[in-house]
Amino acid sequence: MHSDIAKVLVSKEEIDQICKTLGVQLTKDYEHKKPLLVGLLKGCIPFISDLARQIDLKFDIAYMSVSSYHGGIASSGDVKIKMDLDISIKDRDVLIVEDIVDTANTIVTIVELFKHRGAKSVKMVTLLDKPEGRLRPFQPEYVGKVIPKEFVVGYGLDYNEYYRNLPYVGVLKPEIYNNQ
Ligand code: IMP
Repeated sequence: MHSDIAKVLVSKEEIDQICKTLGVQLTKDYEHKKPLLVGLLKGCIPFISDLARQIDLKFDIAYMSVSSYHGGIASSGDVKIKMDLDISIKDRDVLIVEDIVDTANTIVTIVELFKHRGAKSVKMVTLLDKPEGRLRPFQPEYVGKVIPKEFVVGYGLDYNEYYRNLPYVGVLKPEIYNNQ
């Protein structure tokens, strides 16, 4: 698996540090609130697990599964809810936890939906941000690291469902997806 990676973009050590820094900031910003963390499956799993343990507050946690890639390396722009939340977000301070923001099609759709459902506030924390990929204007409130417009895998991020278990974030060798 490691031999399919052209280069490591964010090491495990850097990810640990990012989670600590974001955890301290979120603990401070949500001090007198009881936020609802919403993880977007499946990519958020390693990040939400590490980040949650760095937030020194009581919070609720829920998951939602949305899809805009359908297996390839470019967003289809068509956001589908595959599994909805099992908890009401009305009057809640919602913090969406994502692995990466690229075109922002997914997050803009979800933020609009959550506001329509009556959330008190909707903010987002993302491990990675690819601002050059934007098709819609959107700035996440909390960003772990800004990266160039490259297709990355690992630490929850997949290519055709593989590589999510890599402990770091890396750039996949182009021949891996060109040969398909
Ligand atoms: P967006 O709607 O284009 O912002 O894309 C958001 C979703 O696309 C993320 O939650 C990922 O699942 C996926 N995605 C975006 N960029 C990458 C990437 O470089 N590697 C793997 N998945 C990605």
